Amino acid sequence: MARILSCIQPTGDVQLGNYFGAIRRWVEDQTPESFHGIVDLHALTVPRDPVEMRAKTLELAQILLASGLDPTSTTLFVQSHVHEHAELGWIMGCTAALGELERMTQFKDKSARQSGFISGGLLLYPALMAADILLYDADEVPVGDDQRQHIELTRDVAGRFNARYGDTFVVPKATIARAGARIMDLQNPTNKMSKSADSPQGTVLVLDDPKDIERKIKRAVTDTDNEVRYDPETKPGLANLLQILAVCTATTPDAVAGRYQQYGPLKADTAAALVEYLRPVQRRFAELESDPSYVRKVLSDGADKAQSVAAVTLARARKALGLLER
Ligand code: AMP
Ligand code: TRP
Repeated sequence: MARILSCIQPTGDVQLGNYFGAIRRWVEDQTPESFHGIVDLHALTVPRDPVEMRAKTLELAQILLASGLDPTSTTLFVQSHVHEHAELGWIMGCTAALGELERMTQFKDKSARQSGFISGGLLLYPALMAADILLYDADEVPVGDDQRQHIELTRDVAGRFNARYGDTFVVPKATIARAGARIMDLQNPTNKMSKSADSPQGTVLVLDDPKDIERKIKRAVTDTDNEVRYDPETKPGLANLLQILAVCTATTPDAVAGRYQQYGPLKADTAAALVEYLRPVQRRFAELESDPSYVRKVLSDGADKAQSVAAVTLARARKALGLLER
């Protein structure tokens, strides 16, 4: 059975891209070999409000459980509860080349967009991510398309470490969904949907009210030639809606496109399907919200289980490096 690991940051609100590109696949493919982390240390690359940080971490755990992650199968944990992440993160920072880190698209975009303070953490972010993955001997990392380059870097640093110090890490591979791996902003369909983008009308949140979901989908930017055809290059807005409806109805964007002649009915059906798709998640979230002690217990057990795996891998890396045992 393949070991699966993937993580998500407790920043902002969980949006549809997170759900389609990552979370739903974690749920569908979960086995006792699944590990999923809430990566709070990654969120620190920009200064955060401490009260919000705690609240968002807990809320994200509730959303993941509401989505169907089953703690009797999947190990769900908070990254900072397992100190091995930070330790191997440093080692990976020393294994990655400065040039490699500087070439990461996400680093280039974010450092260009941020004015003023840019943390060193933003550059080292993929080294910590490599540590997250390698600590669990993960074979597969289910992520959205935007993380492809980070997984490539993980493979490179794992290979380099193994070549320098002897076989220590499993070299993982990214698994990217066929549909839903890159959900676009509904108002700017050439940009990916994102929790951090300042585009509330273009971003569907998993916990959005059905009325808001409907309004956002119906006002989604498309094009003016009024021909329903799946073509992400020339018709990105329409392609995005076709992807969303395809995921909700478990089919392909091309198959969905064949069923419509006009944009109006396609939008109406997409909105309705999405509301129904998210309804059970929202209902379970409301239940879990009233029982925070349950969620805390899940995270505490998850941290114990995660650490029992991570500690063994870190010990292996320490030994390979010749770090003196105490
Ligand atoms: P993040 O919110 O950056 O922690 O992302 C968590 C997961 O959601 C990662 O696997 C991302 O690749 C995925 N993801 C984020 N935005 C999108 C999007 N617009 N479309 C598809 N997947 C996404
Ligand atoms: N960088 C990922 C993102 O922004 C989050 C992440 C951190 C991650 N560590 C990971 C994803 C390990 C997969 C595996 O989406």
